[in-house]
Amino acid sequence: MKSESVQMDMPQSATPAAQFTQLLSATRRGARLARLLTVEQIAQWGWPRDSEHADAAALIVAELAANAVTHGRLAGRCFRLSLALLPAARLRIEVTDPRGERPPTVTRRADEGGRGLILVDALAADWGVRPYPPSGKTVWAEVSAARPTGR
Ligand SMILES: Nc1ncnc2c1ncn2[C@@H]1O[C@H](COP(=O)(O)OP(=O)(O)OP(=O)(O)O)[C@@H](O)[C@H]1O
Ligand SMILES: [Mg+2]
Repeated sequence: MKSESVQMDMPQSATPAAQFTQLLSATRRGARLARLLTVEQIAQWGWPRDSEHADAAALIVAELAANAVTHGRLAGRCFRLSLALLPAARLRIEVTDPRGERPPTVTRRADEGGRGLILVDALAADWGVRPYPPSGKTVWAEVSAARPTGR
């Protein structure tokens, strides 16, 4: 595991106030660590622990990291967690894995499983997938801590 300095794959207009990036082993332990690191990092950035949006961010990271280490895994390769605090109290989450040829698909299956991305879709303000050249992909999601206007 090592830290790295990378450019996050987000719109030019969204200059982050703070960023965090970590390479993690593509194991269940690495996925668990991704969630724990997220909880600590966003607390340091002032998102109250156990708040609705902090919990949402932790759950999203847990699901995306679990997917990276099961469906997006390549032997000997890490996955990457990146977090960025954006203007208007938005958190950008990016989970990058080396399997660019396998796109995530939201489908509810009759058997067990297939719920992770449904959860991400419900909790995130927006999410999507982008290529991570030359051969990987980034699954990203944004969570907003801003209250809707009119409340
Ligand atoms: N990072 C990824 N790389 C490749 N395929 C993915 C990735 N994430 C998701 N998928 C594909 O999308 C499907 C749906 O993902 P989702 O997280 O919703 O369900 P699941 O991982 O199969 O089950 P669950 O999350 O409920 O344990 C997966 O079964 C897999 O085929
Ligand atoms: Mg999943």
